[in-house]
Amino acid sequence: CGIVGYIGYRNSQEILLEGLKKLEYRGYDSAGVAIYTAEGLKIHKSQGRLAVLESQLDEVPLVGSVGIGHTRWATHGRPSDVNSHPHSDESNKFTVVHNGIIENYAALKMELIERGHKFSSDTDTEIIAHLIADLYDGDIVKAVQAAVGRMRGAYALGVLTAYEPDKLVAVRNASPLVIGIGEGENFIGSDIPAILEYTRNVYILGDQEMAILTRDGVELLTIEGNFISREILHVDWDLVTAEKAGYPHFMLKEIYEQPKAYRDTMNSRLSEKRDRVILPEITMSDEEIRSIRNIQIVACGTAYHAGLVGKMVIERMLRLPVETDVASEYRYRDPLVSRRTLTIVVSQSGETADTLAAMREAKSKGAHVLAITNVVGSTVAREADDVLVTWAGPEIAVASTKAYTSQLIAFYLLGLYMAQVRGSVKQEEIEQTIGAMQSLPEQVESILEQAESIQSYAEQIAVHNNLFFIGRGPDYLVAQEGSLKLKEISYIHSEAYAAGELKHGTLALIEDNVPVIALVTQPALAEKTVSNIKEVKARGGNVLGITCEDSAELQSEFDHTLFIPRTLDMLMPALSVIPLQLISYYASLARGNDVDKPRNLAKSVTVE
Ligand code: G6P
Repeated sequence: CGIVGYIGYRNSQEILLEGLKKLEYRGYDSAGVAIYTAEGLKIHKSQGRLAVLESQLDEVPLVGSVGIGHTRWATHGRPSDVNSHPHSDESNKFTVVHNGIIENYAALKMELIERGHKFSSDTDTEIIAHLIADLYDGDIVKAVQAAVGRMRGAYALGVLTAYEPDKLVAVRNASPLVIGIGEGENFIGSDIPAILEYTRNVYILGDQEMAILTRDGVELLTIEGNFISREILHVDWDLVTAEKAGYPHFMLKEIYEQPKAYRDTMNSRLSEKRDRVILPEITMSDEEIRSIRNIQIVACGTAYHAGLVGKMVIERMLRLPVETDVASEYRYRDPLVSRRTLTIVVSQSGETADTLAAMREAKSKGAHVLAITNVVGSTVAREADDVLVTWAGPEIAVASTKAYTSQLIAFYLLGLYMAQVRGSVKQEEIEQTIGAMQSLPEQVESILEQAESIQSYAEQIAVHNNLFFIGRGPDYLVAQEGSLKLKEISYIHSEAYAAGELKHGTLALIEDNVPVIALVTQPALAEKTVSNIKEVKARGGNVLGITCEDSAELQSEFDHTLFIPRTLDMLMPALSVIPLQLISYYASLARGNDVDKPRNLAKSVTVE
């Protein structure tokens, strides 16, 4: 979910809607605003995309210079008008927008019902408005503090009461929240782009902190009520970098930004002679790096798939055991962590609740935590012991593309860096790898030039409901990401199979014309994968082979062939995933789907 808030001299409706547009990537099953008008506190909310709310407000605008807004991704209670935010108590004097989950909401709700409160929605948020109303004794700040003291869970809140309409109260506990500082006006936002149009001066709220906003100023305090002084962060990014720049969709724009993302993530981290990786941001001493005994990688979704490649890279370069876990499962296996464990968390947003929980588990067990993230100042970045930022720039499309490939680059850099320290890779090989990495951006460009033929293949598969991806070694790791991408945005069911495993069951699903996408980029494994392709073809499967330009002899094994440039075996994922991203994009387009905002998914999932 995403929240915004405004207090100032302008018409708040417009500012709230603009902010919500920037936050739509966080959830978009319903949206709403609460504005203090001449007739008191008024709420307007509606199920569906933000555009629905916007057109309704166009007809019947809410006029007032203080308000809060919300765009929702349903957790408690299905998407509907009543379950949309903002929520209020029955007197309509207290209204709340909320991102996160209140874990003890059921108990609080029972208690409030016993005290005579009447609820109209199924959400955990509504209880917050009632709880604040119940505890209110003439001071909204005290009432919010008391309410928060009773709540368990992760949340970011914006609170507005009709009794004190010259104040907006914001609270953060584990869900992101920033405060924008203007002149004669101040702002709340779930992230910086939501308010960037109006101010470049922000405070980032920490956990268990709150802010009191008036027109003239902002006060920060802990939820216990102690005042905090904090330096203003001046943001100098450019808002247009977060806009579409002429592409029909953010996803396509982000696919095409990959050569730049590779260069940005890599170039400043190579020595002048291009013979070493330098990572001055890493605080781990050489001694500590040498003492690492095992490495764990945790992440969700696409970042998890980058972590699978990370495992291969680091194991090859350091000859240390590496495990990659889905973050939401990590805790359940009571992972073996010692002071000599390095845990690498990978998260584009740096706010994914499952990833954060896994990271805290690893930390509490004594691991050294290194974060690979795309968002400076995110929770993951702030809590990790070390941070390696992927300079991919803002990623807006829900389906991750440039963040994934930048994470791969980060793993290559990290692997090389630790290998330099540990002496586990020869200097010659380090230079060869760096050299090959520097050619990747141009090689990606040459794949992007084939977009048209990829589009025509994607249009052919768009009519199918089932598809398989196969590959061995690094190709299998990329196949998993390709399959996720396709499912996410085209809604075509697909599975990624280790090519050798297909015959142990899944082959039963291959019949006439089932599309199979086979990645064959690893010379040492090609022969075996070709045997698996033959098994597929013998059952009627229709095979697209993705292989390297120097493997023309393989073409006769496939029904369709896509040639991509060759690089080192280990670096191939940074190239072979590109056509898979384009296939998903064009298949989704052919099916008439909303590419950037696939149904049921959110860009940043801040609940477990
Ligand atoms: C969500 C998104 C995925 C993303 C995953 C992890 O599920 O829809 O695209 O890969 O979260 O996000 P993170 O920000 O932690 O990389």
